[in-house]
Amino acid sequence: MRAYRAKVVEPLRRPDPEERQAALEAAGYNVFGLDAEDVYVDLLTDSGTGAMSHDQWAALHRGDESYAGSRSFDRFRSAVADVMGFEQVVPTHQGRGAENVLFGALLEDGDVVPNNAHFDTTRAHVANQGADPVDCPLPVGLAPEADYSFKGNMNVDRLRSVVDEAGAERVPAIVLTVTNNSIAGQPVSVENVRRVAAVAEEADATFVIDACRFAENAAFVGAREEEFADAAVAEIAREQLSYADAITMSGKKDALTNVGGFVACRDEGLFERCKERAILYEGFPTYGGLAGRDLEAMAVGLREVVERRYVTDRLEGVAALGRRLVDAGVPVYQPFGGHAVYVDAGRFLPHLDTEAFPGQSLVCECYLEGAVRAVELGSFAFPDTDRPELVRLALPRRSYGLAHVEHVADTVAAVHERRDDVPGMDVISEPPTPELRHFQAELAPCEPMGRFGET
Ligand code: F0G
Repeated sequence: MRAYRAKVVEPLRRPDPEERQAALEAAGYNVFGLDAEDVYVDLLTDSGTGAMSHDQWAALHRGDESYAGSRSFDRFRSAVADVMGFEQVVPTHQGRGAENVLFGALLEDGDVVPNNAHFDTTRAHVANQGADPVDCPLPVGLAPEADYSFKGNMNVDRLRSVVDEAGAERVPAIVLTVTNNSIAGQPVSVENVRRVAAVAEEADATFVIDACRFAENAAFVGAREEEFADAAVAEIAREQLSYADAITMSGKKDALTNVGGFVACRDEGLFERCKERAILYEGFPTYGGLAGRDLEAMAVGLREVVERRYVTDRLEGVAALGRRLVDAGVPVYQPFGGHAVYVDAGRFLPHLDTEAFPGQSLVCECYLEGAVRAVELGSFAFPDTDRPELVRLALPRRSYGLAHVEHVADTVAAVHERRDDVPGMDVISEPPTPELRHFQAELAPCEPMGRFGET
């Protein structure tokens, strides 16, 4: 059931095919270089792109812009404590700010950090501290067609062997990302959270949950994990985080805001170190690089995101897109993720091997076909990792309706019909940091890209 209606609207335009071709060329065949004006349905990310509720907009006016100790910080801190169960919190400008603050306080050169699967900024921040980020996904998570309820789980056997090989003293932190963005937005079970917490305790490592999409994860747990069949989403949300020593959060996802993030932890010493780093990199620890009004919006958003009507509508919206793609015969990662549907570009374009970046070709073709912007999360975004060639269609929260979803499905289906003619791509130039190359690299298709779209 649609759990809201529009009150403010933003006009959209669909550029004609010639404009799309020119815009994509000018962007170096990298959709991060496109102007938003030239995009009709923008599924680049679910991060900070959603619509706030009228209560959030109203709360902005309560923003207390005092430099230190604002009332807005108090309301924000209470929301984090009530919804997520952490009393000590440091706001940051967004999730990667939280990663910088926390990892700088925890890691040293030569350390090893296991994660069910690092997101790109998380990997880059671990590496930036001189530590080695190691992914421990389940084999089933890397199989787009395999049916399993919790494909985002940490592979606990692999985690143990990573800890044993490195030596526990070299593993100061173990991170669990819920839902698992790099593994198709798949959920993590509470049972898995408990097992990872046990390994962290044995290794005396800080157990960190990357909680960006904690409410979507909780909703999946409620639907799929027997023990929680009758539990409220809000209860599950707290239960899953109760095992963590610290969390990093991007408010731009499950705090339903356009900016903001935070790090929260239980240990007082760690909290003090985080506050010091926050002063250096973010701002005084009661505002962390945000305006008081941004803290207010996060405080309201955190309470809204665990309401069942919100999160049910959210997962249904994503599944509506997934079902349409499956019906059109498009190979899609299943089950569908919480924030996105991931198309399996490897199966979509079997004539293109990894070096031809099939995911990036598909992203470009979707733009040319229907002015739809998606993002590649395969061998282009994650070089040197062994993972499926995925293209993510991430739905902003509370923004697009069924007509947009249908347009996206028609666009991808039209590219699928002419898939044999889709060419591969070459990277023409790339920036020095390999973990971040997909944001700025320029590419070119090996042959002219398909016909201009009519969708
Ligand atoms: N962790 C995860 C799992 C994320 O998905 C992201 C951001 C971050 C950390 C960093 O948060 O953007 O607020 O600094 N993911 C966005 C995406 C950008 O498109 O998936 P941030």
